[in-house]
Amino acid sequence: MNLFLTGATGFLGGKLIKNLLQDKQNEVYILVRNVEKAENLRYSFSPADQQRIHIFQGDITYPKAGLSREDTEWLTNKIDAVYHLAALVKFDLDLRDELFAANYDGTKHILELATLIQAKKFYYVSTAYTVGTLTHGVEKLYPTDGKFNNPYEESKVKSEHLVFSYRDQMDVSIFRPAIIVGDSKTGEADSQFTLYGFMRALAVFKRKTARKYDGDRTYRLLAAKNGTSNLVPVDYVADILSLAPQRAEADKIYHITNPNPPTNFDLLQMLKEALEFHSLSVVESSGEKLDPEEVRLNSLIEVFKVYLAGDLSFDDRNTQELIRGTGVSHLDMTEETIEMIIRAGYKTKEVI
Ligand SMILES: NC(=O)c1ccc[n+]([C@@H]2O[C@H](COP(=O)([O-])OP(=O)(O)OC[C@H]3O[C@@H](n4cnc5c(N)ncnc54)[C@H](OP(=O)(O)O)[C@@H]3O)[C@@H](O)[C@H]2O)c1
Repeated sequence: MNLFLTGATGFLGGKLIKNLLQDKQNEVYILVRNVEKAENLRYSFSPADQQRIHIFQGDITYPKAGLSREDTEWLTNKIDAVYHLAALVKFDLDLRDELFAANYDGTKHILELATLIQAKKFYYVSTAYTVGTLTHGVEKLYPTDGKFNNPYEESKVKSEHLVFSYRDQMDVSIFRPAIIVGDSKTGEADSQFTLYGFMRALAVFKRKTARKYDGDRTYRLLAAKNGTSNLVPVDYVADILSLAPQRAEADKIYHITNPNPPTNFDLLQMLKEALEFHSLSVVESSGEKLDPEEVRLNSLIEVFKVYLAGDLSFDDRNTQELIRGTGVSHLDMTEETIEMIIRAGYKTKEVI
């Protein structure tokens, strides 16, 4: 198959391209804004596999991602499926314009490009957090005027509607992962965002306060203790995406979520132990009067806090159907796996 990918130089994209190249019949065409990064990615493969990676320089914030007429003519009628992963994955409220430029306009440009080159299938990687402030996620579109925690979620909901509006042009399917963490076997994670951004913020706070105090005080972190954190390993997400050309149905939405997620309390406990941050304590969010240091701790991780705020569940029946009879099993992530992933994350320099 000829597969066109955006976001190949990212955390999930790096894992997905590895999977796709395992099938020796596949050729991958990657749209990247940083050619040097893409060349480095290509060099990480065997010489034979390198031949099957074709790099196109572009930027999804431009119409047709900035590809030349020559490029689009060359790609026309060649591409079996487009995987659109590229996005700005940040939860800051003040990044609304940037988030919409990358995530909404970017998706529009890739849909237009896919139509122009007559791609047959389009797989959009969205997020399970399109659920916004609802507490149960369904594998259906949510209304665009729903309540969102941040412009990232809103940009993804609106993009999903845009993707479905192209269903006359090609087969479209949407994949919604929850919080993507490291590999379930090695813990490896090439990410500095979401859980890894949270881990880094905690590590920075610990390092700074350790200089000031001797560890004879505690810092309270506010969270819904019995809420859950829906973590999914990157290899599970990539395995499901790799099945898409054979198994995904048009017009369907697939949740790539954890049916048995850890509670926030357990997750924070694991983070605290991995970081040896013994003076951290987790308390319920209501009615606590925090001191200035604690206010600073809680504000450092403000953007992640919506994901510690409650108990969410996700229906993933479409995904269970998609993987039925394949070599991919429904996710069963043990506490030991989560611990291993967290420890591996704290070992990499980028997090600390
Ligand atoms: N990570 C998670 O926990 C999570 C959870 C749910 C859903 N998702 C979704 O999964 C997808 C991949 O996420 P990720 O964690 O792999 O993100 P990531 O590591 O931040 O990678 C983002 C990718 O998008 C590319 N990109 C960003 N802006 C671009 C632009 N203007 N033009 C071209 N390429 C651009 C980046 O290129 P550069 O290498 O040049 O920066 C990178 O390859 C995203 O759609 C995200 O919304 C992620």
